[in-house]
Amino acid sequence: FIPPSEVGEDGSIIAKDINGNIIPAGQILAEPPGTRALVAGLAGEPTYLTVREDGTLHPWGIVDNCTHLGCTFPWNPNDEQFQCPCHGSRYDPEGRVVRGPAPLPWQLTRVNVEGDYIRISPWTETDPRTGEKPWWV
Ligand code: FES
Repeated sequence: FIPPSEVGEDGSIIAKDINGNIIPAGQILAEPPGTRALVAGLAGEPTYLTVREDGTLHPWGIVDNCTHLGCTFPWNPNDEQFQCPCHGSRYDPEGRVVRGPAPLPWQLTRVNVEGDYIRISPWTETDPRTGEKPWWV
């Protein structure tokens, strides 16, 4: 058995929990559809992974870092929004701004399942939510 390299040539990493332990993909995929699972992503940034209706992971993760002044905060399943407690910004389930003062959508990362590992890599392509070049590249 050869464990996967933790840091890929493309700058990717294996998703871990807050304590630095690798999170098996099966652990997150066992959650019900609609779950937003928080993992330590690129540079250790808190990153939400979404379990889709078909039981797979959404191919992008969103970085939990308010584009106003950088607060982090949980998903609100009742309102189906991310709601920043610092100054009231709100984001839709895919990280688009619904209400300011946040000026920009949340940063995306690419998410791939490799066996029982989740690999997170930089998202450098067009932002599918805006059709524009990503603001974070
Ligand atoms: Fe989120 Fe100001 S840091 S609204």
